Amino acid sequence: MLRSLLTCVCLLLGAYALDPTNTFEYEYHVVAKMVEFDLFKAETAMKVAALENQLQMTQKTLRSVSREQSGSTYIRWGKKTCPNITTTSQVYSGQAAGGHYQHTGSAEYICLPIDPEYDTPAVEDKEQQGRSLICGAEYETNSGTLFGHLHDRDVPCSLCYTRGKTTVMLPARTSCYSGWTLEYRGFLMSSEANQPGKNYVCVDNDPEEMNESHANKNGALLYLVEAREGSFGKNPYKPGWELSCAVCSTTF
Ligand SMILES: *[C@@H]1O[C@H](CO)[C@@H](O)[C@H](O)[C@H]1NC(C)=O
Ligand SMILES: *[C@@H]1O[C@H](CO)[C@@H](O)[C@H](O)[C@H]1NC(C)=O
Repeated sequence: MLRSLLTCVCLLLGAYALDPTNTFEYEYHVVAKMVEFDLFKAETAMKVAALENQLQMTQKTLRSVSREQSGSTYIRWGKKTCPNITTTSQVYSGQAAGGHYQHTGSAEYICLPIDPEYDTPAVEDKEQQGRSLICGAEYETNSGTLFGHLHDRDVPCSLCYTRGKTTVMLPARTSCYSGWTLEYRGFLMSSEANQPGKNYVCVDNDPEEMNESHANKNGALLYLVEAREGSFGKNPYKPGWELSCAVCSTTF
């Protein structure tokens, strides 16, 4: 098929070439085609360059949009405000709370907003049996010097949003690893060794107390954390030293 087509084209060209009156016309056409092709090539190259440029700009916009629209949250325990970092803003300020320190069904620490909204009238379902209970949290820091001035005071907390960043809490670190920014640092705190267990939270190293929070109500309690015996192998953790923590953020 291809071969017969080529033969046909060659015969046609040959006929043109053999006829001297057509030679000029033939050459003129070839040159015209070449010029046309050159123009087409230049135009196409320009179009491709423009499209490449546009693609790059779109990709750049897309990256910044996805960066702007994503983000992460963390709780800053022990503080009423979030850190003064341009990409970090406060969602709400609240009070640390959790299950009662003596209750076996005691649940983990959470940051309760101070402006609760109830979806059912309280009178209809008041003081029923078979409920999970939650109490405000206090610093339980009378032994030792660290945070001793805050003993029995209620613990504030803030939910912080980091625009375009992801966050992580590093236990036992006072600084972040390379490529990460420090949001805040402090001390790891949790329930006491002989009480029903809760989660570890990172309390700011310059903690505050809730307003008028002096009463010792012993609801949920926060204690400093130490590493002792256990499967640490060649133990890098010093017995009796309070564990630190750092909350770090980074862009994607
Ligand atoms: C936040 O930091 C900026 C820059 O360091 C400073 O100008 C500003 O006063 C700080 N704001 C607060 C509320 O501390
Ligand atoms: C604490 O008191 C300050 C000053 O009176 C007030 O602005 C703030 O809203 C109070 N915070 C809470 C959690 O009650």
